[in-house]
Amino acid sequence: MIIKPEISGVIARSAHPLGCEKAILNQIDYVKHARPITNGPKRVLIIGASSGFGLAARIALTFGGAQADTIGVSFERGPSDKGVGSAGFYNNLYFREHAQNEGRIAINIDGDAFSTQTKESVIEAIETYFEGEVDLIIYSVASGLRPNYQTGEMWRSAIKPIGQAVAGASVSLEHDQWLESTLEPATEQEIDGTLKVMGGEDWEAWVDTLINSESIAEGCKTVAFSYIGSDLTHPIYLDGTLGRAKVDLHQTSHALNLKLANFSGGAYASVCKALVTKASVFIPGLTPYLIALYKVMKQNGTHEGCIEQMQRLFTTKLYGCDKVPVDGERLIRIDDLELNPETQAQVHQLVESMNANNFQKLGDYAGLKQEFMQLNGFGLAGIDYNKKVDIQNIISKYNCLADSLL
Ligand code: NAI
Repeated sequence: MIIKPEISGVIARSAHPLGCEKAILNQIDYVKHARPITNGPKRVLIIGASSGFGLAARIALTFGGAQADTIGVSFERGPSDKGVGSAGFYNNLYFREHAQNEGRIAINIDGDAFSTQTKESVIEAIETYFEGEVDLIIYSVASGLRPNYQTGEMWRSAIKPIGQAVAGASVSLEHDQWLESTLEPATEQEIDGTLKVMGGEDWEAWVDTLINSESIAEGCKTVAFSYIGSDLTHPIYLDGTLGRAKVDLHQTSHALNLKLANFSGGAYASVCKALVTKASVFIPGLTPYLIALYKVMKQNGTHEGCIEQMQRLFTTKLYGCDKVPVDGERLIRIDDLELNPETQAQVHQLVESMNANNFQKLGDYAGLKQEFMQLNGFGLAGIDYNKKVDIQNIISKYNCLADSLL
């Protein structure tokens, strides 16, 4: 079949398998030519491994100098009668293939990270493939939902301001249209739900489970990703429900740091740059900022994607130096280029002059849209999008992947 892009609002309804593979190959190529990771971890668990920062971290650690073996956990949709499946599904498939071609172990576990069952499968995989221990645990889950397995109910995250309504614009990627909106403040239930889904509780549960199963290697580190951003995004992010959840994540990093000190290891929250990912396009009010940020950072030659951010994190922060560099709140800052005062002054100016009529001209909307399309395997150079894709062949790869699971 010929696979075409299908977008509704900010959600991609289709993905191009060969384009996903090409996007992975591009990232592999980048890290192979970048400054290599030194003294890196050899056995890595990535929770949220199939896209965005988690996938980039997996590629950086496997191909960017550390030659790590990886176990990746994610929640993705394979091909079925209903459609071709999600980009993350193909990312897992092709990452595994290319990692294995270079002699690396790459295990994909498809399941709900919040469940005990998935945690148990991972422990089994660590026993089988990693001689029982991990050197690094990356927590990179971005979700809107978390099942409460005790009650059968769902916790839902809400992306809302706290205390007062916030006016801002979002952009429909489906119609390339600027949409003004006002977001009402979150209820207490929505604040609590966001904390449950995007706060530090599940990260801590993972590390506790791995400590209890004696799966933590001497010197083991763990890292989760956070965002702080500029004052332009604070009303919707830092001061809102997601910011509350990130503060919880930061506090969890301190608690986990104490626990991992028993293994001469450490726990960190790494504050990353704002980027287009499957998750971030959902944040109302963030897109105008991203369009302006992309424009300014590309003009200044400081723009980075997930892969550049992750390679820099592992070469200059988490590994390769005697002590992990952190700020006054013990956070790793890899958002330094985004928050550069000169950059922010330019972004401010741009955001203030953008509106429904000129955002495509003034900001880098084309760049943002291209990245979004590429996340789903579309718009990549070298792929013939008019050529039929052999889904049967992909399904057989899928079965082969399933066979390798526990
Ligand atoms: P993403 O949507 O690209 O990746 C999310 C990953 O989580 C995917 O692998 C997905 O399969 C997995 N996942 C979702 N629900 C799951 C579940 N129930 N069980 C197992 N896996 C599940 O998201 P992105 O943007 O890479 O986000 C990762 C982290 O980085 C988040 O904590 C986010 O807040 C943070 N971050 C993102 C920034 C951005 O601009 N995109 C900036 C700074 C931090």
